[in-house]
Amino acid sequence: MKTTGITVRNFSHYYGQHQSLKNLNLDVYRNEILGIIGPAKSGKSTFLTCLNRLNDLIPGSRVEGKILIDNQDIYQPDVDVVALRRKLGLVFATPVPLPTTIYENVVYGVRLLGKNNHQELDDIVEDSLEKAGLWNEVKDRLKTSALKLSGGQQQRLCLARVLALKPEYIMLDEPTSGLDPISTMKIEDSLRILKNDFTIILVTNNTKQAARIADRTAFFLMGELIEIDETAIIFTRPSDERTEAYLQGKFG
Ligand SMILES: Nc1ncnc2c1ncn2[C@@H]1O[C@H](COP(=O)(O)OP(=O)(O)O)[C@@H](O)[C@H]1O
Ligand SMILES: [Mg+2]
Repeated sequence: MKTTGITVRNFSHYYGQHQSLKNLNLDVYRNEILGIIGPAKSGKSTFLTCLNRLNDLIPGSRVEGKILIDNQDIYQPDVDVVALRRKLGLVFATPVPLPTTIYENVVYGVRLLGKNNHQELDDIVEDSLEKAGLWNEVKDRLKTSALKLSGGQQQRLCLARVLALKPEYIMLDEPTSGLDPISTMKIEDSLRILKNDFTIILVTNNTKQAARIADRTAFFLMGELIEIDETAIIFTRPSDERTEAYLQGKFG
């Protein structure tokens, strides 16, 4: 039985006069990996920032329609936006560790919440790094600079930082676009395990990545959702010819 986590209905987004998302309708199921593919400027990143209201920070940003997350209408004025952003953690394309230790990078957001108990923080660090698939590589050097880590390790550290805040949804925006194949594989392995406990939305510019790990895949084009279906169907018999053309590398 699939449980719906996110319901998007007749949802549009504008940057000033420019419409970046056009009347989207889709659901996200709990504990799935939903892949989002599509060429640049299709609105993929905008969609993620609409889901946790990061777009509120952009002047001129405006929405129409509805997004329900666990039955909460997230654009109602009484919504606790800070809690919403914690619930839907976002990992960006380029890992940006803070210029401090590995340990402090993981607990940074947690400390901002007022947690300072050493044992509790230690447990969060181990648990988050373990889930991000980084613990074994760094457990003996937690107090060394995060900036000395490789790019792939830094990206897993950024994932750990999001996990430390105990989100329910993990959104990743082209998280492996700058990484080598082995680092990419490590992140994909972590995501496959994480979906047991989290709901994952993965924007990827690498269609093969969606084919490898997404349960369902959505194809975005110029702000429109062209289609969304089981990944196997999208990749073998999509219903829209634009999806097929994109997957065949004819544009994008
Ligand atoms: N901060 C912004 N201000 C104005 N327009 C933006 C901004 N960010 C993105 N856009 C525009 O919105 C559209 C969707 O962009 P984006 O969501 O970044 O797409 P994608 O992630 O698929 O590349 C593009 O036309 C882009 O130029
Ligand atoms: Mg983007």
